[in-house]
Amino acid sequence: MYPTIPFDRHRRLRRTPALRSMVRETHLHVEDFIYPVFVVEGEGVKNPIASMPGIFQFSLDELKKEIDEVVSLGIKSVIFFGIPDVKDAVGSQAYCSTGIVQRAISQSKEQYPDLVAVADTCLCEYTDHGHCGVLEDGYVNNDESLVLLAKTAVSQAKAGADIIAPSNMMDGFVATIRQALDEAGFENIPVMSYAVKYASAFYGPFREAAQSAPGQGDRKAYQMDPANRLEAFREAESDTMEGADFLIIKPALSYLDIIRDIRNNYHQPIVAYNVSGEYAMVKAAAINGWVDEKKIVMEKLISMKRAGADMIMTYHAKDAAKWLLEEGK
Ligand code: PBG
Repeated sequence: MYPTIPFDRHRRLRRTPALRSMVRETHLHVEDFIYPVFVVEGEGVKNPIASMPGIFQFSLDELKKEIDEVVSLGIKSVIFFGIPDVKDAVGSQAYCSTGIVQRAISQSKEQYPDLVAVADTCLCEYTDHGHCGVLEDGYVNNDESLVLLAKTAVSQAKAGADIIAPSNMMDGFVATIRQALDEAGFENIPVMSYAVKYASAFYGPFREAAQSAPGQGDRKAYQMDPANRLEAFREAESDTMEGADFLIIKPALSYLDIIRDIRNNYHQPIVAYNVSGEYAMVKAAAINGWVDEKKIVMEKLISMKRAGADMIMTYHAKDAAKWLLEEGK
């Protein structure tokens, strides 16, 4: 029996693939992706990360080949994470001019001058205790950490970084780094701030890749409580006042509401960080044949853009770039 009350025929616009693509509101482009890479000392090293199938730690010679592939897929930007051989209490290798990440950045910029090299600015991969700043009686000292983070940012800019991306969650890091960059003559180097970064269990696999799990305690005294939303506005507000050129929200998948909130209230480009645990879960299910990897990944990535992200840092970037190429995009 047909209803006699009026109803809308939404299916009209879904009838054919061509119609559906005409009315599609959100699109993924290879330009959206920022691909994370992990670099280590040595030669001929390509260490697989067990919890992140398809992701490796590269020595500089192997990194060269990886960057070739990334660029050949049309990916425009890479974020570099360095894992030094020697770690100490103050993360000296983070701001050493010959540190692993500095060499990785300058090598890659020499190889591809147009590549957008993003430097993750943090101490956790470089400290022997694994915290993102310097410890004082087991507590990360904010202002002392700022001094070292500013040095790190300047050394990364000197190495050729196009963007400084501080992920340490110290208060005042954007202001401190902005001032240090300006004083060193890098007033044209933007700061892509990890403005809204939660203390998340989704970083687990990254800490294996970056060998940066805190030896003691956790990061809850500096990263945000996953239960909080208004705090995200306060974080975005201070970073904006301090001069952040981009705002990162991290993780992405469980925080799409926050991405939308920040998109609606701020006007910088918004970056979603599709983190290691989000990658690992999809990979594990895909390897078991429980989900269709391509479909799941593309749905995840489009949902981040629909939520308001302009760019996505993602370990899926190479795969997604291949799939977009296959579709002629
Ligand atoms: C450094 C940093 C982390 C990630 C990016 N930068 C780890 C952390 O805060 O513990 C996580 C990225 C990921 O999980 O993919 N502080």
